[in-house]
Amino acid sequence: MYKILVSRELPGNFLSKLNIYNVLKWDGSSDVQDWLIKNISDADGIIITLNEKIDKNIIDMAKKLKIISTFSVGYDHIDVEYAKARGITVTNTPEVLTDATADLIFGIMIAAARRIVEGNELIKNNNWKSGWNPYFMLGSEVHGKTIGIIGMGRIGRAILKRSKGFDMHAIYYSRHRHDVDAEYVDIDYLLKNSDFLVIAADLNSDTYHFINAEKISKMKKTAFIINGTRGKIIDQPELVNALKKKIIKGAALDVFESEPIDGNNELINLENTVLTPHLGSATLETRSAMAETAVINLINVLNGKEPLYKL
Ligand code: GLV
Repeated sequence: MYKILVSRELPGNFLSKLNIYNVLKWDGSSDVQDWLIKNISDADGIIITLNEKIDKNIIDMAKKLKIISTFSVGYDHIDVEYAKARGITVTNTPEVLTDATADLIFGIMIAAARRIVEGNELIKNNNWKSGWNPYFMLGSEVHGKTIGIIGMGRIGRAILKRSKGFDMHAIYYSRHRHDVDAEYVDIDYLLKNSDFLVIAADLNSDTYHFINAEKISKMKKTAFIINGTRGKIIDQPELVNALKKKIIKGAALDVFESEPIDGNNELINLENTVLTPHLGSATLETRSAMAETAVINLINVLNGKEPLYKL
């Protein structure tokens, strides 16, 4: 009987489909990475999340592993090339989370521009004393502005679609030109012209710290940076510095260089940031669909069939 490791309980009842196997679930009583290391040597399949690191060492320990099924679209936590070279299939859960993630990214963008979180805090801290007045808490407009999207994969396209509803002018930068209703521009043009610079790219060796001080210095003083894919695409200390010096107007971030964010991180005390704790795909419907996809991917591979998605 195949041995399957499952690193987290998942929404929906899809993990019960694995009852035909010998399933070992992490019970939360130890460090999850240590638990994986302890149990992986004779595992045939694993279902993991983006918290678990599957590097060369752990892949070498796994003598029988056939499938790494990650409950995420991102796969920067897995050494995919090394796993594949060892004959291990690696699968992920794209598509089902695209719209939820694009909704969240659009939401934090509007929240930052229109100071929604700040307004909410003002009221909840009982600090709304001045009443309505013509200059009170003026924000930045979103409709009609230029959105500059970095990366034009599934999430980039879903953001683009939403931007049309707000009559935004859309420009994008990506490795390749895509057949989309947006202007394909070089990175300098994107930086100089975007009112909202939205990161919708994967983390890889090309995108690591892609947004740094030098690039931010080319942006408009009135611009915002929005990131909902991976924190390491931005050099975070350099972004903090730019926000402090008001080189750009603000940032809305759902992802960080390290998560959870350190309580001393300077981003927390900046007024011009909206921060959410990696909530892109966090709806019950989407997380259930991701669970179903991750389970089907694993079962298909163990049955010699094609998974729904493979890397
Ligand atoms: C979330 O960040 C994911 O990769 O699914």
